[in-house]
Amino acid sequence: MDLALKPCFGDPLLEVMIFLNEVVQRYPQAISFAPGRPAEMHFDVEASLGKVARYVEHRAAAAGTPAAAVFADLGQYNRTNGIINDLIARQLALDEGIRASPDAIVVTSGCQEGMAILLAGLFDPARDVLLVSDPTYIGITGLARILGIPLVAVPSGPRGLDADDLAAAIRAVESSGRRARAVYDIPDFNNPMGTRMPLAARRALLEVADEQGVLIFEDNPYGMFAYDEGDPLPTLKALDERGVVVYLGSFSKTLFPGLRLGYLVADQEVALAGGRRTLLASELTKVKSLTTVNTSPIVQAVAGGILLDNQGSLAALMQKKLPFYRANRDRMLACLEAELAGVASWNHPEGGFFLTVDLPFAFAGESLESCARDFGVICCPMTFFALAAGREHQIRLSFSYVTPPQIEEGIARLARFVRQRAPAALVPP
Ligand SMILES: Cc1ncc(COP(=O)(O)O)c(C=O)c1O
Repeated sequence: MDLALKPCFGDPLLEVMIFLNEVVQRYPQAISFAPGRPAEMHFDVEASLGKVARYVEHRAAAAGTPAAAVFADLGQYNRTNGIINDLIARQLALDEGIRASPDAIVVTSGCQEGMAILLAGLFDPARDVLLVSDPTYIGITGLARILGIPLVAVPSGPRGLDADDLAAAIRAVESSGRRARAVYDIPDFNNPMGTRMPLAARRALLEVADEQGVLIFEDNPYGMFAYDEGDPLPTLKALDERGVVVYLGSFSKTLFPGLRLGYLVADQEVALAGGRRTLLASELTKVKSLTTVNTSPIVQAVAGGILLDNQGSLAALMQKKLPFYRANRDRMLACLEAELAGVASWNHPEGGFFLTVDLPFAFAGESLESCARDFGVICCPMTFFALAAGREHQIRLSFSYVTPPQIEEGIARLARFVRQRAPAALVPP
């Protein structure tokens, strides 16, 4: 059978996620700075599975039912929008200063499903456009391509997305007769850039979104990975008094990605036919019912038990993990300074998993192959994440999934590669 597929399947964007998940197997000898994975030493999967009993005990006591009935319920199809919404609402209040009613939360199979629900539920591809800070996470742009939703790139700088740039992009979309439906961004410890949006820029962004009637999809998997002293910055959702932000949460980095557990906070009021009003989350739950029916109750019980065991917050658990990630970031910055000062430049992320390096030459598919095969280090071209041109000289380095000795050796290998390719004027003999 000659099966013709949609043209989007030829789009290289659709291969990036698979590349990031599989590149390590392709070059087993190489040190990889490519995957945005959390370090397994912090997972404790076996102990986490034991937390299901903690969750069951809590629910049984609250409802006055036998534990066996709660266990049986975990094995059954379950509430479409989730069973741990109250615990997520409490964690958001404690850890992020976000006030959300449990009804405004939809528990999802990873944050990725949250994106799928938003794009499938809120966009009419014939007229609606999704704006994205560029470069950005491939999970949203790749999915938009599959669904045929037009994308418009808004440049993301060292301080993230700029409200004036967003306003100009919205005007351009509207004057072309289309509707700017939403803008997607990762304000905290951005993937891929490692940048963080300052407070004033957050407020300005909220104002523009409100004025223009455009939703903000705030994706925040890295917010709890803050490494530097100083005032914590509120999320856009915590600042959102006008109801313009739909918040995407994930337990993939704070707990572990094998849970495949995330959530949406969609507390906007929407009008139904007949004038009745409801929460956007309730309407999006209809989409969820037709994508994954409900998120695994067993997986939710694992996370629920962990939250209960930690008085509702993930902050104490994070305190145990942060020194590792902070030390890795610092080690990578120190190695870059020792090996590549004057030849390349890079940013100093205040948190998260990634940093951006500016090289004195373009780094594309061929450089990636040669760097991995001949020099034994895997780096991610920034062009993998970019819609607009201009990122050809940048790479994303991940420091979350390597050990300190691997960082030292990996940056030394990268430096050998860069020195070989850099214009001679930059490399002292
Ligand atoms: C920006 C961003 N959003 C979301 C996720 C994770 O999504 P999920 O919860 O589906 O694992 C990641 C993981 O790499 C990410 O970098």
